[in-house]
Amino acid sequence: MKEFVQIIKGHYDDNGVVKAIDILNDKPLTADYMKTRPDIKQRVEKAINTKTYLATYQRGTRLGFKWITQEEQTNYMDGALNDKSPVEGTKVTKLVSDFKHATPPKDFFIDKLKWKFLVRNIEKGKNIMMTGPSGCGKTDATFKAANYLEREVHYFNLGATQDPRSTLIGNTHYNKDSGTYFSESLFVNAIQQENAVILLDELSRAHPEAWNILMTVLDPIQRYLRLDEKDDSPTIKVADGVSFIATANIGMEYTATRVIDRAILDRFSLIEMDVLSEDDEYTLLKGKFPTIDENQLLQLCSIVGDIRKEINTDSPRISTMISTRNTIEIAELIMDGFSIHDASELLIYPLFPNDGNDSERVFVKQLIQKYVGNKNKKQLFDTENI
Ligand SMILES: Nc1ncnc2c1ncn2[C@@H]1O[C@H](COP(=O)(O)OP(=O)(O)OP(=O)(O)O)[C@@H](O)[C@H]1O
Ligand SMILES: [Mg+2]
Repeated sequence: MKEFVQIIKGHYDDNGVVKAIDILNDKPLTADYMKTRPDIKQRVEKAINTKTYLATYQRGTRLGFKWITQEEQTNYMDGALNDKSPVEGTKVTKLVSDFKHATPPKDFFIDKLKWKFLVRNIEKGKNIMMTGPSGCGKTDATFKAANYLEREVHYFNLGATQDPRSTLIGNTHYNKDSGTYFSESLFVNAIQQENAVILLDELSRAHPEAWNILMTVLDPIQRYLRLDEKDDSPTIKVADGVSFIATANIGMEYTATRVIDRAILDRFSLIEMDVLSEDDEYTLLKGKFPTIDENQLLQLCSIVGDIRKEINTDSPRISTMISTRNTIEIAELIMDGFSIHDASELLIYPLFPNDGNDSERVFVKQLIQKYVGNKNKKQLFDTENI
C-alpha cells in the first residue's frame, strides 16, 4: 500500500465555502493555502461530492493524489497507528540527553530552534528568561524541557510573594531553649543541588528586593547567595549545572508587571515564546479533546485566530487577546456540551471591556457572530420546519 502523507476530509461550511482538514496529521488546510492551490480545492470538492477522502502521497518531489473510501481511510489510519507506535516508543527511550537532537514533545508547540536552545541552556546550566504574553506556554515549556532532560524543577513563584527575603533566604526564629536560630528557605536548599532547574516564575512581577538578592546568584561569574546584607556575612555557592529559568510577561498590557531591571535582564538569555498559530492550536485541541466535532473545533480556532489577528494590526480595536490557556478552557466547555455561542458568552466576552457602542466587546461579539450567527439562523429555520 502507498504511504500517505495526508488524508484530507472536506466539507462545505454554512456559507458554502470549501473547508478541509488533514485528519492524518490533525491539521486544517488554511483558507490562504486553499486560495493559492485551486487544484487542491478542486480535488477536495470532488472528494466531498463523491463521499471520499483525498489522500496524498509523495511521488518523486511532487504530491500524488488518490481518492479513498471511508473504509480504506479507517483501515489505513488504524494500520498507521499500529505502525507508528514502535517508532514512537524508540523516541521515548532517550539514550543520551543531547540537545543537538532535541525535538519538542508532540503535545507542546514551540519553534524547534527555540526548543533546542532551551534544552541546550538547561543542559549547560545557563540562565534563561522566557518572555511572552499570558498563557503562551512559558511555565509549561520549562517543565517539559526539564522533564525531557530528566531534571527536577524547583518552583518559586516570585509574583506571589510580598516577602522575597524569607522566600529566597529564610527566616530568623526564636526558641525558648536555643534562642534565636535561622531556618533556610527552600531556595537555599535548591541552589545547592547539582543540575537542578530552578524556575523563577513571574520574575517580572517580583518585588525589587528579590532582584537585589538574585543579582549575585544569577551572575555567571559570582554565582553565590549572600545570607545577609552585610559584606562579611556567609554566602552559599550555587552548585554546578544549576540552571535558572525565569518567566516574564513583558509588554504594555501587563500592568502589575514591573519594568525589569536592566542588570537582571542582562543575566539571562531571552527566549521569546510565540502565540500558537491557528493550525497548531487546532492540532493541540484535537489531541486534547478528540471527541469534539471537527467543525466546531475549527470554528473555535478561526474565532480565536481572528481575534489574535486584530490585536496584531496597526490600530487594533481590542487591547487583549485570547490565550491558549483560554482556548483550552473554552474547548473543555464545548466538550461538556456547551455551544460555542454559550462558551463565548462565559469565557470570551468578559475579557473585553463593555463601555459603550464602540466597545471592544461589541467588536468581539460581531466577530463571533460571523461564525455562530449563521448556525443560529439555521437552527431557527429547522425548528420552524418542525
Ligand atoms: N505552545 C503550547 N503548546 C501546548 N500547550 C500550550 C502551549 N502554550 C500554552 N499551552 C497550554 O496552555 C496552558 C497555559 O500555559 P502556561 O501556564 O505555560 O502559560 P504561561 O505562558 O506561563 O502564562 P502566564 O504568563 O499567565 O503565567 C497550559 O495548559 C499549557 O499546556
Ligand atoms: Mg506562567
